[in-house]
Amino acid sequence: NLKGKKRHQDAGQKHFCPVMCKACGMIYSAANPEDEAQHIQHHQRFLEGIKFVGWKKEHVVEKFWDGKIILVRPNDPKYATKKAEEVRELVDHELGFKQVVLSCPAKTKTYLFVYDKKIVGCLVAEQIKQAFRVLSEPCPPVSPNQNALEHHRAWRCSTKPEPAICGVSRIWVLSLMRRKGIARRLVDVVRNTFIFGCYLSTEEIAFSDPTPDGKLFATKYCQT
Ligand code: ACO
Ligand code: ZN
Repeated sequence: NLKGKKRHQDAGQKHFCPVMCKACGMIYSAANPEDEAQHIQHHQRFLEGIKFVGWKKEHVVEKFWDGKIILVRPNDPKYATKKAEEVRELVDHELGFKQVVLSCPAKTKTYLFVYDKKIVGCLVAEQIKQAFRVLSEPCPPVSPNQNALEHHRAWRCSTKPEPAICGVSRIWVLSLMRRKGIARRLVDVVRNTFIFGCYLSTEEIAFSDPTPDGKLFATKYCQT
């Protein structure tokens, strides 16, 4: 078996070095079948979104002409919480988070934007007590040796805690569906439904550890 032999040879050599897929951004080792399988799954989800056929009991919090927003809470049926987890995994992959544990799963709400039987947007909101404001200027480099990649997410934060109620730990929209107001509508809905009977101000919402995209969006959304 020539193919088998070739594989075997490759495996023993330099081919374990990781590659990055230009389409989906995942970094993986093409020589590792497990990694390869994971990549195929991520690649598909990244480009197509996650399928959503609908549930018997779904908690629709808002409907639009081009989709709807569904809320998943920690005590919802398994099929719902599993789906929320699946989406979170995809988002974490894209944001480069590795197995981030939610600070308090029991207080976490996941909002899913569904369009055309696919999940095209997701927002994970957690109940918090305080937040530190991101200041408008990024930190000056600590040392000339600090690399740019490390640097670009290091926003300077205020040291003064401010009261906040809802922390947006992740917000994500499928790449082909961006700039259609999906993230904006997700945050609007969170402000309206996170605490029953109360509309949160933008001051009461905090975006955790924003990416450059996330910061541009949050700045625009909060008009800061
Ligand atoms: N560049 C500049 N302005 C932006 C950008 C951007 N990339 N994204 C949003 N905005 C501003 C615009 O003013 C926009 O209004 P306009 O389109 O009328 O000009 C306004 O924010 C509203 O944007 P939406 O259409 O609601 O945002 P979208 O649905 O495209 O989602 C998001 C924004 C979630 C940041 C998306 O770009 C994304 O998923 N990025 C990759 C994942 C990511 O980085 N998420 C943030 C992580 S931080 C965190 O989770 C706390
Ligand atoms: Zn890929």
